[in-house]
This record gives sequence, structure tokens and C-alpha cells, in this order.
Amino acid sequence: MSMLLRTKPLEAIMGESVETGEHTLKRTLGAGSLIALGIGAIIGTGIFVLTGPAAARYAGPAVVYSFIVAAIGCVFAGLCYAEFAAMIPVAGSAYTYGYATLGEIFAWIIGWDLVLEYAFGAATVCSGWSGYVLSLGQDFGLRLPPELAGTPGSVFVLYNGNWEFLGRVAKKLAVLGIDPATLPQRHGDFNLVAFLGILLVTTILVIGIRESANFNSVIVAIKLVVLVIFLAIGGATLLHHPELPRVNWHPFLPPNTGAFGSFGWSGVLRGAGVIFFAYIGFDAVSTAAQEAKTPKRDMPIGILGSLVLCTVLYILVALVLTGLVNYHYLNVPDSLAVGIDATGVKWGSLLVKFGALGGLTSTMIVMLLGQSRVFFAMSKDGLLPKTFSNIHPRFRTPWISSITVGLVVAVFASTIPLDKLGEMTSIGTLLAFIIVCAGVLVLRFRRPELARPFRAPFSPLTPILGILISLAMMLGLPGETWLRLVIWLVVGMGIYFGYSIRHSKLNKSAP
Ligand code: ALA
Repeated sequence: MSMLLRTKPLEAIMGESVETGEHTLKRTLGAGSLIALGIGAIIGTGIFVLTGPAAARYAGPAVVYSFIVAAIGCVFAGLCYAEFAAMIPVAGSAYTYGYATLGEIFAWIIGWDLVLEYAFGAATVCSGWSGYVLSLGQDFGLRLPPELAGTPGSVFVLYNGNWEFLGRVAKKLAVLGIDPATLPQRHGDFNLVAFLGILLVTTILVIGIRESANFNSVIVAIKLVVLVIFLAIGGATLLHHPELPRVNWHPFLPPNTGAFGSFGWSGVLRGAGVIFFAYIGFDAVSTAAQEAKTPKRDMPIGILGSLVLCTVLYILVALVLTGLVNYHYLNVPDSLAVGIDATGVKWGSLLVKFGALGGLTSTMIVMLLGQSRVFFAMSKDGLLPKTFSNIHPRFRTPWISSITVGLVVAVFASTIPLDKLGEMTSIGTLLAFIIVCAGVLVLRFRRPELARPFRAPFSPLTPILGILISLAMMLGLPGETWLRLVIWLVVGMGIYFGYSIRHSKLNKSAP
């Protein structure tokens, strides 16, 4: 038992960071750069893709409330991340925090769970990316056969001479009184674009990218400009056509249909669990703790600043989108493009699509990079085979880890539907948040003497609320997502007891 709960001494973690030269990273990032870093990781598929389906399937225009609930949960968890990031300022992650505080078995669970956040997250983002690629292709008359344009099970119908994704035209057909069953149908087998997208990003990661602050700033600017233009064009349309929001926002909170999670307040909660995906990424700021000029002050500013900015933007975008297009029509993979199409501004739609492509590419890179870093750290600790920390002699990147992860993620992205991927990412990340909040509580109790440059305020209330709200969002997610999480964790336990426990460096060095 003591083996399972053995913690990695904080002093050793700090020591390793000196060995690897991390300690010598230049402290160049101020509050502004940290906020930009957060926004770069946060804005992605969540807002560009999931907003529409979450409104169409769970919450209606009240998806706006879902955004607020998810943001509140993230703020509490964010404060706990900030406490750890300032206290253990290594380029680590929740995995390192867990190893230092809760013990090896929890570290393993977090590391294994972070695969859900990063690998499934990258697959989700890529799936959304492919939706925009296909939509852009259609604008230029390029279409793939349905078999190669969707994941297994997705249905396409022949409508107006084109094979259309059923989700996109279902409501239109219903209004026209056409039964989709009477139209020729084909099914998707493999999302080729998503598969190629992940291979492309993996290649970039193996060859090695310089994570330059300038590149990040450009991408962040593109994402922000696209969302602001969406708000400007959409907002102006709503002002000129007040009948649109009058119709589309009524009812703002559609009544529950009788099933948990299908509209009404339970729908808002399920929407929050799904839309929570849109906020994932602020934890990336914590990994830059060692490069922050004044971590004590700037870590919380970076984490909370990027969160607050994105929350405001997201709420406005959700309001405008559901005002422009009735939520029934939003179950599509390129919902913001559908929204701007409704304004009649053709270049607006093209701009949103190109902006989304650029923005989502950078989110994919961040997530796959995060995944190979976590495997790298776990492999260094002996919890995963050594090959995962093998560095390519020329490119100086963890290439085996990147390629293995890339291939698996490519298969996920091309064969599992986006909503299922997103829900797995959300439930996995929420679990990581709960463990991080619990870690803050445990450490306050066990090691009260440690220097904490930043303290989450109102502790123990803040970590407890972080745990409770994350748990509520997890409970909002469908039962089958829970089942998948349990299976995932059981497989993880199998690997831990079959391999990691015997190879752990910490256990080997134990007296
Ligand atoms: N928050 C990121 C996104 O929405 C993961 O794509």
C-alpha cells in the first residue's frame, strides 16, 4: 500500500528541473504573454464546433447558461492550478503535481487520465477541423464520397443533387415535410481528412517546431479577430432584424423533453459538461510557470485572465449564434460558419472558415505536444517504457512517443464521432481537475509549511467548490461516457499493476 501512495519528493522534482536545464529557462513572460498563451490553447473546437450541437441537442439558446456554469467550475479549478504552478514551477503538469502530493498511484491515474484530455482532445479538435475543411471544399466544389467524409455510422442523404450530412439538413427536410428515409442514403466509414490532419500535425511535431511567442501571438490574433468579426457582423444583423432573436430566443430555455439532459435545466448541465471542452487549455498556462517573470502575481493573472476573456467572448458568440439561427438547425460541424451564412455576408463565412482552420491547427499542436510531454515525463519516472522518452538524434524531439500517439489519435479522429470524442475529453479533464483540487487540499493539510507564492483564496472553500462543480458537470454527461471512463481507468490500472509498479524508479530506489 505504501508503495502505491509513495510521493516523489518536491525537492527531487525541483532537482530534476535543474538537471534538465529547465531551471535556466529565461523568465521572459509577463502577464500579457501568459494571457495570450492561455487564449492560444483555449479557443478552438469548443466554440467553433461544439456550441451549435450543444444548443441543438441539449440546451437550446440556454447554452449560454451552460457556458457560465462551465466557466465558474474552471475558475475554481484554475485557482488551484495557479497555486500549484507557483509552488512547483517546473514545466510539468497535473501529473507532476499528483506525484508530489497524492502518491504514485494517483499520479498514474492523472497521467493516464491526461491521455483523455490531450489525445482525445486532439482527436476532437481534428474532427472539428475536418468539418471546416470539408465545408470549405464544398464552397469550392470539392466533395469527398460520403464513405470517406464521415465516421462510421454517420448518415448522408442525397439532397439537391449533393450528398449532405443528415444532421445538417434534417431540420430543413422536416420543415419541407420530406422524410429522410425516402431519400437515397449512404454511410460514412472513415473520416479521411481528420486522419490526414493528425498525420500532418504529427510530422510537424517530429521535425520539431520552435514554440515561438510571436507565432502564438499571430494565431491568437487570428482567432480573436475571427470571433470579433463574427460578433460584429452577427450583432449588426440581429440589430437590423430584431424579429430574428425574438423568434429564435423563444423559448430561451426550452422545456425538458422528459429525459435527463434533453433541454430544461438538466440540459443546461449536460450542455455545460459538453461545452466545458471549450475552456480546456487554461491549464497550459501553468506549464509556463518557470518562464514567468513574476509567477506569484502573473500565474493567476494569466490563468484567470485568459479564462475571463474567453468566457465573455463565448457567451456573446453563443447569444449571437442562437439569435441568428434557430437552435434546431445548429447540429452541424461548422456551426459558426452556418451562423455567419445566415447573415448573407459571403466573405464572412469564408473568413470564419479559414480562421477556424488556422486556430484549430494551433490547438491540435498544443494538445499533441502536451500528450507527448506527459508520456515523456511518465517514461522518465519508469511508469512507461523507456522508448517513450527516446529523443531523436537529429530533430531532438520525443519522436517515438509523438508517432505512437499520432497514429492512435489519427485512428480515433477518423473513426469516432466528434461528440463522443469531446465527451471523453471533458470527463477525463474534469477528473484531472478534481484530483488537482484535491491535491491542493491534501498538501495544505500535510505540508502547511511549504512556501506558497500564490494561495488559492478562501481555501478550503475554493478547492471544495472546484471539486463539486466539476463533479456536477461530470454527472451531467451521459452514462455511456461514464462507462467508457471506467473502462479506460480499468485498462490503465492493468498497465500500472502489470508494468509500471515494477519499473517505477521511485519504487526501485526505495529502501
Ligand atoms: N478548448 C480547446 C478547444 O475548444 C481544447 O478546442
